[in-house]
Amino acid sequence: MEQTYISPRQSGRNSLEPDEKRVAYRDAEQQLAGLLAGLDDPVAVMASAASVLFHALPQASFVGFYRVVAPGLLRVGPYQGPVACIEIPFERGVCGAAARQGKTQLVPDVDAFPGHIACDADSRSELVVPVSRDGEVIAVIDLDSPSPARFDADDQAGFEALAALLVTRI
Ligand code: SME
Repeated sequence: MEQTYISPRQSGRNSLEPDEKRVAYRDAEQQLAGLLAGLDDPVAVMASAASVLFHALPQASFVGFYRVVAPGLLRVGPYQGPVACIEIPFERGVCGAAARQGKTQLVPDVDAFPGHIACDADSRSELVVPVSRDGEVIAVIDLDSPSPARFDADDQAGFEALAALLVTRI
């Protein structure tokens, strides 16, 4: 019998157990690898990734890309969620910190992060993962949640693996 995939978001679940989370990331990676096979179009890749990941993650209000479009400047790319800031200089916000330092920013409480940019007033926690090629940040993947401390080390590991999968395609 054919099985219909029910994403965690569709199921109405608010959170995932650690084991389920690892399965969700593995499934998302497999789904993305299949979707993106042979695709050489950065916009299609980023749009598809944002959609797959947004629907895979309960309690994520924003999943999207910011691209480095000039030295020290990020500009929004494909995303799912409420309207986001268009441009972010490297010296500002969580996204800017990830791009400047080339390091993932795991922020359990956005109000405690100096310079956090509140594109969405309901956002309470955030995870930003850089996408780096040859040691240079080319984009960041930004996740927001209305729940405090929504993201943890498992999400960080899952998104760092996804960034490695996407880096040659965006
Ligand atoms: N909060 C981010 C800005 C981007 S939005 O969350 C979509 C930041 O501080 O960089």
